Amino acid sequence: MTLPPLTTIRFTGDALCLLDQTKLPLVEEFLRCENIEQVYNAIKRLVVRGAPAIGIAAAYGVCLAKNEQGHLDRWSVIDAMDRLATSRPTAVNLFWALDRMRSVADRVDDASLSASLIAEATAIDNEDRLMCRAIGQNGASLLDGMPAVLTHCNAGSLAASQWGTALAPIYCLHEQGRAPKVFADETRPLLQGARLTAWELSRAGIDVNVICDNMAGWMMKQGKISAVIVGADRIASNGDAANKIGTYGVAVLARHHGIPFYVAAPSSTFDRSLATGDQIPIEQRGRDEVARPGGQTWVPDGVDVVNPAFDVTPHELITAIITEIGVIHQPAVETVQQHFA
Ligand code: MRU
Repeated sequence: MTLPPLTTIRFTGDALCLLDQTKLPLVEEFLRCENIEQVYNAIKRLVVRGAPAIGIAAAYGVCLAKNEQGHLDRWSVIDAMDRLATSRPTAVNLFWALDRMRSVADRVDDASLSASLIAEATAIDNEDRLMCRAIGQNGASLLDGMPAVLTHCNAGSLAASQWGTALAPIYCLHEQGRAPKVFADETRPLLQGARLTAWELSRAGIDVNVICDNMAGWMMKQGKISAVIVGADRIASNGDAANKIGTYGVAVLARHHGIPFYVAAPSSTFDRSLATGDQIPIEQRGRDEVARPGGQTWVPDGVDVVNPAFDVTPHELITAIITEIGVIHQPAVETVQQHFA
């Protein structure tokens, strides 16, 4: 069984074409970005989203940096990296990818800069594909035989180069004809679960049902969920993991019901400069995402909303973290250290 290929990020040499995730599932349309400002806006507006995909898009984006004469040079590249680094604060893959691009800019001269940057961005993209594939293989044995798995947000092909992270083990089992049924939390306020996870899993022929976020506890209570698997935007040294807002609540529910809670992420999502998840910056987004979804007023004018885009799940609630290297059981400072030793 092969998956229909889903390429969401295409670099053409003079443009970055991004499958516009704000329009899914209704419209499949690529947005063409030809300069840094367009790439910046695409990341900020979630045209491209998901931690690994943001890093890949930013890396290719840097290759479009032009000075006032229309040429790419070291200073235009540095300006571009500084600008892109302010697009979204939480997913560390963005900064990880920009650091890799920066070290290329630091070591090559202007004559070979463009080719070297494109080579590095392509390497980041290809490495992510391999990492996600390995996450799929490492996670498949944990989910094998489970009738139904719950996921939150979208950590699939749309959020990474190809296989995704949380969905990679499911795709891996699907290739062997053994995929579990998937319950996708709709994931308010931007509905990445309902719009994106449901779209890509059903496209691949995997049995997926969408539930509202407030249904997860009751589904667990009724024995309908065998495991939870989610992605991550940044993981601290002790295994605390930031992911889409609502993940923490799902982890608490899973613990209460004795259900394993797995986090799947490549090593590029670890930020080992942070001791705990308390230090992870949490993106705060605008009022309209909550108060006026799709332009329709759901909250009375004059009433404020709070809209943190991510939360942090403490490592004690995580059964295991699955990376491309293997599985970190009972994540904590020591087990994370051993994993990367
Ligand atoms: O705001 P988003 O849609 O970029 O949030 C994405 C998530 O929280 C994902 O779960 C995470 O980035 C992992 S993607 C492999």
